[in-house]
Amino acid sequence: MSEKKTFYITTPIYYPSDKLHIGHSYCTVATDTMARYKRMLGYDVMFLTGTDEHGQKIQQKAEAAGVTPQQYVDNIVSGIHDLWKLMNISNDRFIRTTDDYHVESVKKIFKKLYDKGDIYKSVYKGKYCTPCESFWTENQLVDGKCPDCGRDVIDAEEEAYFFRLSKYADKLVAYYEEHPDFLTPTSRLNEMVNNFIKPGLEDLCVSRTSFDWGVQVDFDPKHVVYVWIDALSNYITALGYENDKYHDFDKYWPADVHFVGKEITRFHSIIWPAMLMALDLPLPKKVYGHGWLLIDGGKMSKSKGNVVDPVVLCERYGVDSLRYFLLREFPFGSDGVFTNELLINRINSDLANDLGNLVSRTVSMVIKYFGGKLPAERRADDELDSQLIEMASSLRAKYEDSMEKYAFQNALIDIFKVISRTNKYIDETAPWVLAKDEANKDRLASVMYNLLESVRICTVMLTPFMPATAEKIFEQIGADESVRTWESIDKFGMLPVDVEVKKGETLFPRIDAAKELKELEEAQNKGKEKKAEPKQDKKADAKKEEKAEGVALIGIDDFAKVSFKVAKILECEKVPKSDKLLKLQLDDGEGGRQVVSGIAAWYTPDELIGKKVIVVANLKPAKLRGVESNGMILAADCSNGDVKVIFVDDAVDCGAQVR
Ligand code: ME8
Repeated sequence: MSEKKTFYITTPIYYPSDKLHIGHSYCTVATDTMARYKRMLGYDVMFLTGTDEHGQKIQQKAEAAGVTPQQYVDNIVSGIHDLWKLMNISNDRFIRTTDDYHVESVKKIFKKLYDKGDIYKSVYKGKYCTPCESFWTENQLVDGKCPDCGRDVIDAEEEAYFFRLSKYADKLVAYYEEHPDFLTPTSRLNEMVNNFIKPGLEDLCVSRTSFDWGVQVDFDPKHVVYVWIDALSNYITALGYENDKYHDFDKYWPADVHFVGKEITRFHSIIWPAMLMALDLPLPKKVYGHGWLLIDGGKMSKSKGNVVDPVVLCERYGVDSLRYFLLREFPFGSDGVFTNELLINRINSDLANDLGNLVSRTVSMVIKYFGGKLPAERRADDELDSQLIEMASSLRAKYEDSMEKYAFQNALIDIFKVISRTNKYIDETAPWVLAKDEANKDRLASVMYNLLESVRICTVMLTPFMPATAEKIFEQIGADESVRTWESIDKFGMLPVDVEVKKGETLFPRIDAAKELKELEEAQNKGKEKKAEPKQDKKADAKKEEKAEGVALIGIDDFAKVSFKVAKILECEKVPKSDKLLKLQLDDGEGGRQVVSGIAAWYTPDELIGKKVIVVANLKPAKLRGVESNGMILAADCSNGDVKVIFVDDAVDCGAQVR
């Protein structure tokens, strides 16, 4: 038996520093659709997605929330899993860059590159924000100030390792020339050469010493591997490169395609190929740099407060409507402007009017005229049929051509042309007129069959885009597994003639656009508050509380799981090398405990010693900046950004339960 052809496709690994928005879902839905399409064609598919967990920002957010970076990201990553489950994403593997096997591989990759002379030690110079403990490049600054806190930055330097990217400039240009399809759209390739390679490639800083949450450099442990070596390697470590967790590197590498947003095509078409060249590994066959979903005239971003929540949209319209919209509305390689109005209009016109209506009319007529089951005798064909049959029969080749070019929009446009043509066929054949005369019974059965068969053919091709809807349509038109396959749409007429249909639910109820737009705006605003930040982020929690309606309710049993106790602060000091953390020794009435709290910006140790506070006493121990913390003290966010610790009346004994 011949081995199946393989297809390896990836999304970028997402930063878990925030909640994912519809822009992130865009790439993942496209990747999922492609993976499902290739599986349908019989490929052995590997679809990889995951999360990019490292760095100073996460470390700082976690410290402010009083949890470890790992605890902080675990919570967000679990939300990402939920989102992909909700959106019916069929990834075969999910990599977290904090997974042990990935960490082990990255250490080995770093060492390999170092031993080869492609990584060397030097000095990193940049702009440094002392309160945030962050290095920034000139480009990242906002009006010359720290982009996070808006304060002044200073020129600073630190020892760092560099990847010899400059060495690969000529090889990269030669590679692009030999492989003009390496980067799509090709316009982006010219941009890479003209804007980045020709002006001179600089070596890339690949380690940091100013924070410690990341993959440690084995042979120089005060360094952690910085961003791109760690992140890009995921595509090979997830297959088992330099680790024993997986063993399918030889099977799937090189990747068939990396789908990435346009702003990171540079990293995927310059740094990544150079790294692979340095490792003597083959390069991916293609990098596809897709466009952005824009909103309010710009990119979605939390700071602009314009992110669109995919959960809200899925809940309101169904997952498949959103999946369809994303790939139908915007050409994959270009930017597109997202509006609620576009979404609703697209659902109403294509899904409710055209597809939903066609399925429902067809099934209803088969039930009305034939009691749900078509007769098994020969059909009577007519002139009117040929155009429909010809269109439906030639769809597969056109669709395949578009899909192979990642032109999702074109594939859908062609399917919907056939759907429209099929609706028109109903008007042309006027089954209700045929039904008036028993002599037309054969012809009527033939018309019904042609309708069902056109619906089936379109549905097979819609399956990768709208898997759950396709399943429902197949159920309604009585198409069993054998006629849901790619092979079964090779020609018109594979649906059994005596098929039995079933009335089902309305697939896409029509939406009252005006009413909906108003409600949607409100729901999204609420959603922003409700889901914008992970649970541990205190600021977001405060916002959630302001908007009480947006908070999930818990029962008294859940509340009872948390043990709040009164404790007195006996000692307090700053945690070395941190501007945010204080180490507190507490009398908790049970022999004492040590807690680390991210309140150094608001309190000096002297202001706290002797005060009574509330401590979450049954929180799992965590290490913050290497200092053990056993619990968390309660504090509240003020509207001006300050944080105030909740102090307790001195009359309350240490150890008293708060309830
Ligand atoms: O860049 N429209 O992660 P990320 C379309 N960790 N795509 C969008 C978008 C929008 N409005 N907003 C974001 C990273 N994206 C790195 C990747 S890969 C080795 C490391 C896309 O979470 C964005 O273009 O910031 C990118 O491709 C992806 O979401 C992940 O973004």
